[in-house]
This record gives sequence, structure tokens and C-alpha cells, in this order.
Amino acid sequence: MMVEQLARNGKGNGTKEGADLYYPSADVVERAQVKDWNALADFSSKDPMGFWAARAEELGWYQKWDSVLDDSGKPFYKWFVGGKTNIVHNAIDRHLHTHRKNKLAFIWQGEDGAERSMSYFSLNREVSKFANVLKALGVRKGDRVTIYMGRVMELPIAMLACAKIGAIHSVVYGGFSVEALHSRIEDSQSRVLITCDGAFLNGKVVELKGIVDEALKRTAAVETVVVYRRTGKPVHMEEGRDYWWHELMALPIASPKCETEKMDAEDPLFLLYTSGTTGTPKALVHTHGGYSVGIYATFKYVFDITDEDRYWCAADPGWITGHSYIVYAPLMTGTTSVIYEGAPTYPYPDRWWRIVEKYGVTILYTAPTAIRGLMRFGEAWPNRCDLSSLRLLGSVGEPINPEAWRWYYKNIGKDRCPIMDTWWQTETGMFMITPTPVVPLKPGSGTRPFFTLRAEVLDDHGRTAAPNEEGFLVLTTPWPAMARTVYKDPDRYVSTYWTKYPGKYFTGDSARVDEDGYFWIIGRVDDVIKVSGYRLGTAEVESALVSHPAVAEAAAIGLPHEIKGNAIHTYVILRSGFEPTEKLAEELRQHVGVELGPIAKPEKIEFVAKLPKTRSGKIMRRVLRARALGMPEGDISTIED
Ligand code: PRX
Repeated sequence: MMVEQLARNGKGNGTKEGADLYYPSADVVERAQVKDWNALADFSSKDPMGFWAARAEELGWYQKWDSVLDDSGKPFYKWFVGGKTNIVHNAIDRHLHTHRKNKLAFIWQGEDGAERSMSYFSLNREVSKFANVLKALGVRKGDRVTIYMGRVMELPIAMLACAKIGAIHSVVYGGFSVEALHSRIEDSQSRVLITCDGAFLNGKVVELKGIVDEALKRTAAVETVVVYRRTGKPVHMEEGRDYWWHELMALPIASPKCETEKMDAEDPLFLLYTSGTTGTPKALVHTHGGYSVGIYATFKYVFDITDEDRYWCAADPGWITGHSYIVYAPLMTGTTSVIYEGAPTYPYPDRWWRIVEKYGVTILYTAPTAIRGLMRFGEAWPNRCDLSSLRLLGSVGEPINPEAWRWYYKNIGKDRCPIMDTWWQTETGMFMITPTPVVPLKPGSGTRPFFTLRAEVLDDHGRTAAPNEEGFLVLTTPWPAMARTVYKDPDRYVSTYWTKYPGKYFTGDSARVDEDGYFWIIGRVDDVIKVSGYRLGTAEVESALVSHPAVAEAAAIGLPHEIKGNAIHTYVILRSGFEPTEKLAEELRQHVGVELGPIAKPEKIEFVAKLPKTRSGKIMRRVLRARALGMPEGDISTIED
């Protein structure tokens, strides 16, 4: 109640009051678009469709929708049915007739110090040219295109070019490796793949093209590869298959005039693969219409974006965070964004703070793991830089521990920048549980659901958990940016998300709600591990291990890690004839790195003779976890032996 009251009155002076509440300063409240959070929350919950229709009205449509929400086929909800648009129409085309035409869309800094910037006018030109290249390569509306690149400006250009012609992009994070890339190409059946010769990271070159060549040995789907030259290191170019980006863009086919395809609101915009309970990653499908409206509205209200901002989301465009809040929402709001190619600590741990200072970043959005990683170098690094341009901070990807929150608030935000702790998922497309700048904050809580949305914490029987009692987090109202299905597998969509509690969306997270109605996310309850904020499936790590000739069986679990949040620990049963040596353990770690990617490399490999299993043969990971943590093993009556 006290919290509500203060938010309503916009009181507070930016300092901590009481044990753990941080109030917005008068400046923050004064500039906020939504000064009265409660009033808008009340209003929008009474008329959710009115709220979303009003946000949609702020965007451009070729043809207006007939109905905001069609829930006749739920859980396959449809939004803005009958409407025609294209996300590129809102991200680029609309700005070309306004003052934003000459505004910077992107400011890019390479890890090696290279710099580029691009206005909306130039972005349109590059996107149109590349869209025409894709057309000349035979890409048509509805075709899938895989994008596997480093953090260069051509990555958003490639995404936008696909969207412009109605092709469906499938971006595979550049930190993934051969098998992860192969399985995603195979599932999406992309005939065109866009990549780079390599990427700079931590002073080294990640040989993306080499990984592509390996992955393509395992699939016949891809006919054409477009290679953007970033590092200049020589790479193999397969005759008749591989083409240089710059050479294609210099041909007459790359005309700078390209009409934006008029899409149905429900037409797919992209596939994005994410890890779940089984070994095969699933692709969530997001659309042109509802997704646009959802990310636009959340970005506008949560980051309180204005034309003066210089916004920097330090995530990778290859994750949902990058799709929604590096590429699409910032462009839709005509924002100037910073993109940095490399590692936060290269060459020194002040790299990020130098970027904030140099470009006058006003909003910084990053992940707890990065904060913890930078924290360990001490505050002298940020203190040497001028961070006074910052006015708002953000956090995403995993629960932020209060210690990291306070460090971020004090040393980066200088006790005056509210931290928007945004809880959401690849599946949700947009922020779901999040403050806006006027909401009083508690370190570690994403506060309350965004306007119109409702979330609940339930026990195993579907009863609402008592205040502060841990349970399963569910979402009980539909939202426009929700994933529409799992690509080619609607049954999996229903069974994963809509079956545990019929009619409610099951998030896979555990959480609690405190006496002020604030949500606290505890962690995943399925076989997903969040490593440095990246989402990995235990089954993927296990199948990577088992693909090595020495391994008969493997089990992977996540254990707490000071910087990564969680680290992967694995238990391996060797095939007969193989000796459990340190050397073999290292070889297996490298093998997982090559198959899945460096982020998936196990922290530890332990050789064992047996694994705890149920009588039906399922590995009991919770028993392994309990043993590793020295905790009670719980009910083991179903254990096989
Ligand atoms: O466990 C939650 C955690 O990340 C999961 C979703 O991962 P992904 O689909 O990769 O998307 C990450 C970026 C949106 C969630 O189920 N998570 C995400 N944000 C937060 C979080 N946990 C706590 N607090 C957050 N702010």
C-alpha cells in the first residue's frame, strides 16, 4: 500500500528509504510519460483491448485490423486480425518522411576500434539493396533464411532485408557452433545462409565461416551462402555456393529501390530457436503485427524513450533481447542505438564505460552476468569515466542478485538512474514483468506485470501460492507479442506451455509474490540451465557429450556460479576401453565447445560408473544436484537402483 501511494504521488528523492525500496527522483517522475502507474494499470486492466488498440494506432498500417484479439482457437491466439503491415514499414519506411530521415539509427563500434554510424536514410538504402540481392538469389515471401553473423551492422541489415520482402529470418547466435547451427538449419530448411568470414571477440577471431563449412557438410538444405567480410582473414569460398556480400551489393541487382511487402498481421516475421526439455531445440514463431505492437509499447513505456536518447542494449542481436530491443523496437521508435561488437573487458575492463562516455549513452540495458563480471574489477574502472549521460539502466536474462543490483545502481547509475529489471522470454517476445521508471524498486524484483497483463504463482495443484511462498509462475492473460506456435510442431507448443495449467501459460520459472504484489523470479524448474544468461538445455549438452566416441552416457546439471549465475556440471559414463583421465575430460569439454559453442562447455566433467535413474530410465538430475550441493535428496522411491 505504501509502495502504491508513493508511486501515485511521485514522491521520493532517488535515495533509499527504509531497508530495500528505491524511489524515483523528481527528475525521473517529471520526464516520465506515465506518471501515474496505478491509474494506467487500472484503466488498462479494465479495457486491455482498448489499451492495445491505442498502441497499435500509434503505428502505421497498410490496412486497419478488424479485431484486436481473436481467441476462438486458443491457445493459438491471433492479434490485429485482418490488419496489414510490415514491421519494416514502422522500423524504417515511416521515418523517411520525417525529421528522423537524417537521424542516426545505429552507432557501431568494433572491438578493434573501428567505427561506423548509419542514418535512417542510409539504413533504408542498405536494407533495400540487400533485400533485392535476396530476391535475386530466389528468396520469396515465406522462405526461411538463416543468419549466423558476428555483431556487425550487417546483422540487423540482413534481418530487416528478410522482413522487408516477407522472408522469415532465423538468426543463430554467433557463439553457437557446428551442431547447434546444423540442427537449426535443418529444422528451418533455409536455402540461403548469411554469415561473416569471422568475428572479433576478446582480441581473437571467431572463425564463423569455418563453422558454417563444417555445419553444411551435415545438411544439403543450404544452396547459397552470403559472406560479409569483417576480419579479412582468408576463408574457403565454395564455387557456385558462396558469394561475398560486398560483391553482390555492387551488382546492378542490388538496386536501392525495393517495395516493402504488405504482410498480414499474423504472417510470421521470424523463427528463433531456444532450448527446452528435449535435445532438439524448438523454434518459436513471431509475427509482423502483434509482435510489433507489443515490443513498441513496452519499449516506449519502460525505457521512456524520446528522440534525444542514445540507447545501448549490450546483448547480442542473436537472442530475443537483441531481436526485440536492439533491432526492432528501437527502430520503430526512431531511436539512436549503439552496437558494440566485442567483449566488455577488451582490452581493459573499462571498455563499456568508455563507450558510454564517448557516445553519451542515456540508457544501458544489460544482463546480471555482465554486471557481476565487471564488478569484480572494482569501481575504479567506471569511476574514471564520465557516466553522467546515463538516465536509466536495465537488466535482463536471469534474476539479478541484490548485491549486483546495488553495485550497478551506485557505481554506474550514481544513485540516480532507476533500474528496469525486465522479466520475459523468447516465447513472450516482449517485457512481461517490469517496472516503469516511476515505480519504486526493490533490488532483485522485476516488480509487477506490464499494463493489461496478469501473472500468478501457483502450487502443483493450481492453487494460488500464499504471499512469499514459492510456486510456478504462470501468465493468465494473452499479450500481442506472444509466440504463435512452435515451428512445425503445434502439439509441442500446447504440451509445453498450455497443458500443466489449462488455459494458462506455463513459463517454466518458479517465483514468489511478496506482500506488495512484487514478483521475485527464483529460476527455471525445467531442464533448462541459464549460463551467463544464455539458455541451454541439459539434453543438448548431454547429446553433445554422447556424440563423442568415448562416451556411453552423460548427465548435465546446473550449479550456482558466482559470475555466470549457473555453470554446467556433467557426469559421464565411459565406453569400455576408455580411461577416465584429466586429458580425456579436457577433450570432452572441447568437444562440447565445438559441437554446441563455447558457452556450453561444461565447468566440470566427472567420470562415474552409474547415474541415478527412475525405473523408466529417466536420469534423476535433481538427485545429482542435491548430492552436488550436499542437500537432502528428497523422494527417491522411484530410483531404479
Ligand atoms: O528464467 C527466466 C530468465 O530467462 C528465461 C528466458 O530466457 P530466454 O528465452 O533466453 O530470454 C531471455 C531474455 C528475455 C526466463 O524464463 N529471465 C529473463 N529475464 C529475467 C529472468 N529471470 C529473472 N529476472 C529477469 N529479469
